[in-house]
Amino acid sequence: MIGRLNHVAIAVPDLEAGVKTYAGVLGARVSAPQALPEHGVTVVFVELPNTKIELLEPLGGNSPIAAFLERNKAGGIHHLCYEVDDILAARDQLKAEGARVLGDGTPKIGAHGKPVLFLHPKDFCGTLTELEQV
Ligand code: CO
Repeated sequence: MIGRLNHVAIAVPDLEAGVKTYAGVLGARVSAPQALPEHGVTVVFVELPNTKIELLEPLGGNSPIAAFLERNKAGGIHHLCYEVDDILAARDQLKAEGARVLGDGTPKIGAHGKPVLFLHPKDFCGTLTELEQV
């Protein structure tokens, strides 16, 4: 069902410091910051030859990554995103397997302008898992 690893998302308390680490220390190509108010984050994309790293900083008072950063003050890996061909078919198959889809199960438009869904970490080896239709 799942295809390529689309991105690894890392929550950071300070996006500018994260950009310095990836662009400066690691010498990666990093996009300009994008505010995504509907997702409660500001994001930059680190472009690697085989995948992307997304650095997420909380945006606004009700950010979905605020609690994660409360528990992981230095930041940390927040989720993995796998590509699927058909997100509704993937959702239905996963639900039939007993996996929990977060929210009401309706795909949202993610940071790349494509439909995404999140799956409960307890059903996926303790890792918040995103599916993106490509
Ligand atoms: Co993501």
